[in-house]
Amino acid sequence: MSRTILAQPPLDSGLKPIHGTGYSWLQERMLFVRDPLRVVTERRARFGDITFMNTLGRHKVVMPLTASGVEEIAMNREKAFASEPAWSFFIGPFFHRGLMLMDFEEHRYHRRIMQQAFAVGHLERYLAAMEPVVAEGVRRFPAGEGVHLLSEFKALTLDLALRTFLGLAVPAGEARRINRAFEDCLAAGLAIVRHNVPGTKWAKGLAGRKILEEFFFRRLAAKRAVETDDLFSVLCHAMSPEGEVFTDEDVVNHMIFVLMAAHDTSTIALTTMAYYLALHPEWQAKARAQSQAFGRELDYRRMGELAVLDAVMRESMRLNAPVPRLPREALIDTHIGDYFIPKGTFVSASTTVTHFDPTLWSDPEAFDPGRFAAERGEDKAHKFAWMPFGGGMHKCIGLHFGQLEVKAIMHHLLLRYEWSVPEDYKWKLDYTTLPVPKDKLPVRLRKLGLID
Ligand code: HEM
Repeated sequence: MSRTILAQPPLDSGLKPIHGTGYSWLQERMLFVRDPLRVVTERRARFGDITFMNTLGRHKVVMPLTASGVEEIAMNREKAFASEPAWSFFIGPFFHRGLMLMDFEEHRYHRRIMQQAFAVGHLERYLAAMEPVVAEGVRRFPAGEGVHLLSEFKALTLDLALRTFLGLAVPAGEARRINRAFEDCLAAGLAIVRHNVPGTKWAKGLAGRKILEEFFFRRLAAKRAVETDDLFSVLCHAMSPEGEVFTDEDVVNHMIFVLMAAHDTSTIALTTMAYYLALHPEWQAKARAQSQAFGRELDYRRMGELAVLDAVMRESMRLNAPVPRLPREALIDTHIGDYFIPKGTFVSASTTVTHFDPTLWSDPEAFDPGRFAAERGEDKAHKFAWMPFGGGMHKCIGLHFGQLEVKAIMHHLLLRYEWSVPEDYKWKLDYTTLPVPKDKLPVRLRKLGLID
């Protein structure tokens, strides 16, 4: 098998070159999209701590194969890596000026203001607003054979986001239009033709962005006028301790980005939990028993009592992290560990590396929520052993909100239904964008009849 190096380190730097396979970008992509874990495992065996891959265009992507390499990228202590140019490559024209597409001082400025919207008081109110929408949405799930849970969760999380983020009941037709616009923006990120040619994914993405901007700008004045408990209003009125506030454009850009950031991620977390709970009915029963003991009404202060649900959520997000890679670009010649990274290289901190590292996790491919129990504490093996919400300056700002939403939906699902898959069922994930089951997870959903 061939073997190449990324770049020769400068003489006397003491740094080592990074090795890769020499495969074309198409070969690399096919292998990765088919089975990322296998790629990581094989390359770790072949190249050790770090490798690189060819991708479309001029880019080569360096992927550390250890938790400490992942940590170096995420923590970015030498400010060598930037998020904006790397994420922009995929989603820039469609989600520009979102928090994740900013760096350093500007990022800090915006994050300080946005942080206000995720303070405990707001989270309590978001949960209170979410609860009836969740209960009603879950009640409307169709019971029976072949219920595609991915689609059900996707529709519910969008509805929830529109109502609790915007404080608006958006008519079904409008919600579909907005959903379509998001889908088009997301799909465009992976387009081969990256120009505004009619009919292409790229063009549809640009049109989608326009629809979203119009949607938010049209409602902005009303949100500025009155303070309400939804995220849109909160962002309109948010002020950092230093007195900084968002402009109208900032609010619209952040809203579009946050809706996107909150939507597919929560959907994937829920679908993954539902999958493992279907494969492991004993865990489904345990989680249901705890939800029944908790009672129907969720209370922010008591969420810690849903410990089984918490462990199941953590384990599910370990096995299928909704955002499996944190991409960055090297702004200067730099290094990861002892390895040389030339300026302009893309680097990627991957959960496939840390979440399946056999030196951090026992039997890493097995579903075993008990590994998070205090007495085992496998997630404490390394700061980045468990990192579905990223880490460092760009760590998910919505991580508490996201977990509340996921738990609220799963709590109501457990109370109302029992679900199962055939014993030999094994899902196949589509890794072309974020990892979703190709068949949308068809389950047998049976109403329990314990509640109305
Ligand atoms: C299960 C649900 C979620 C997962 C797994 C998730 C995951 C992530 C990850 C991995 C990042 C870091 C990306 C990077 O460093 O390159 C991130 C950033 C972000 N997330 Fe989430 N997220 C979730 C839910 C949410 C929700 C509900 C919101 C908003 C309400 C949100 C808003 C954001 C924002 C604004 C950023 C950018 C932060 C920054 O750059 O400073 N996320 N998320």
